[in-house]
Amino acid sequence: MNRQTLIQTLPKAELHVHIEGTFEPELMFAIARRNGVGIPYASVEEVKAAYDFHNLQSFLDIYYAGAEVLLHEQDFYELTLAYLQRCRDDNVVHTEIFFDPQTHTERGVPFATVLGGIRRACLEAEQQWGITSLLIMCFLRHLSEDAAFATLEAALPHREHIIGVGLDSSEVGHPPAKFERVFAAAREAGFLTVAHAGEEGPPEYIWQALDLLKVSRIDHGVRAEEDETLTARLIAEQMPLTVCPLSNLKLKVVDNLAAHNLRRLLQRGVCVTVNSDDPAYFGGYMNQNFNALVQALDLSTAEIKQLCENSFQASFLSETAKAAWCRNIRQAV
Ligand code: ADE
Ligand code: ZN
Repeated sequence: MNRQTLIQTLPKAELHVHIEGTFEPELMFAIARRNGVGIPYASVEEVKAAYDFHNLQSFLDIYYAGAEVLLHEQDFYELTLAYLQRCRDDNVVHTEIFFDPQTHTERGVPFATVLGGIRRACLEAEQQWGITSLLIMCFLRHLSEDAAFATLEAALPHREHIIGVGLDSSEVGHPPAKFERVFAAAREAGFLTVAHAGEEGPPEYIWQALDLLKVSRIDHGVRAEEDETLTARLIAEQMPLTVCPLSNLKLKVVDNLAAHNLRRLLQRGVCVTVNSDDPAYFGGYMNQNFNALVQALDLSTAEIKQLCENSFQASFLSETAKAAWCRNIRQAV
């Protein structure tokens, strides 16, 4: 079996995908028209041409503008179902989806509308295709601690439908320490925690995510390698990194994929996983990320399988479910 077929065949979990980042231009145009919301592009081609980023912020500006057309429960449902169809195509059997409530509640869209649409799609995908999903609500780190507390408050009535909280948006200048108290309150309320750290920000932000936010995973974390003590800790604790190769390429975290440190981290024993981050903006869903890595880094069959196993080991699935999926992967030819 060639490596591309192996990637297609193996079951995978996705642990780092922003639902707003799966908004394909075609669907964006359809929903914008339906909702009577203007977008500053004449065609899908023009939108795609605008997806030429030089760093995280240049992407975020366009990503937040795109999300403004989402108004109704049906919009969030269609957005999420379209992503889950991509999961089915790529044999992603489990996904832990980020959503950014503040992007929507700040525009007057109720929290329950956002969550309701996302959940309806997740339930449908589980019934129809057997794909399981968990939801992680992210705080926007460029906004205040007070705003994050208000979001946590809004989430409490929906606690049973949200497995954890995360931290995303503009990293540099907004260290995890800014949200130490909110994360403590979230843990107190029973949420698991994750955080984006070490994408553009320094290794110090990863230390803070571990020690102050008490995260179960680091999202991105690729800059950990600059700090040997930190890397050793990640290995010793088997602290997962949810790495997003095509995102790192498109946001100029790396100059080219051949220079990506994913394989080096994997070979050192870091629990790295492969994810798509914002696939509609970065040119690829799960299997495109895997295939691009195989091309650039010449990943072996054993390494591909290890990455798939890691995706389940690093997930919030039960130990029984993790073991079953890993057995399935090990038994694959
Ligand atoms: N929001 C969506 N994608 C993001 C990323 N890669 N980093 C930080 N915030 C994000
Ligand atoms: Zn992300």
